[in-house]
Amino acid sequence: MGAQEWVPGDGGLDELRAAIGGCRGCGLFEHATQPVFGRGPAAARVVVVGEQPGDHEDVDGEPFTGPAGKLLDRALVEVGLDRGELYLTNAVKHFRFRRQGKRRIHETPRRSEVVACTPWLAAELDRLSPETVVCLGATAAKAVLGPSFKLTEHRGEELRPDDGLAAGLRVVTTVHPSAVLRAPDRDSAYADFVADLKVV
Ligand code: URA
Ligand code: SF4
Repeated sequence: MGAQEWVPGDGGLDELRAAIGGCRGCGLFEHATQPVFGRGPAAARVVVVGEQPGDHEDVDGEPFTGPAGKLLDRALVEVGLDRGELYLTNAVKHFRFRRQGKRRIHETPRRSEVVACTPWLAAELDRLSPETVVCLGATAAKAVLGPSFKLTEHRGEELRPDDGLAAGLRVVTTVHPSAVLRAPDRDSAYADFVADLKVV
């Protein structure tokens, strides 16, 4: 298991995007509609990493186009970040879900799937060379900073990891926008999310 053998060793983001459709690095490709690769300019100074595509993104083929993406858009505007200048991607490129009648219910990817998919994120970061990596939620944070990272203790901090995918880069972590949507006190969860993004 693992995506490495499908990841092109050279070429840019377009070559990566063209190759990901063939990835069989874990079982998630089987039920998903398509892989959702990152989006944004190759010169982006900020890379935003989510968990995995959701129901909308799986159909559209673009990251952050569903309800979580709408909330993210609103928060980005509020802190003065231009979505068009960011590169948005996910730790896992295929949608993991279970079926409930006609609905597809999001399931958190397994650690083994996150590890299997990491070569794609590593290749994106390699081609991009951003200054800052923003991790949305624990899955993204653990993919970038290692499995022992505790989001609740370090959200909103400016981190400078020595190893891992973002070695030498500036990393800021916060919760996933879908956690804000589910929070019992949505207004305060949103305010905390925006406060973390201000650090970026
Ligand atoms: N949630 C994510 O983590 N990524 C997306 O692309 C959409 C929703
Ligand atoms: Fe490959 Fe990642 Fe899709 Fe698994 S989730 S098949 S590793 S692209």
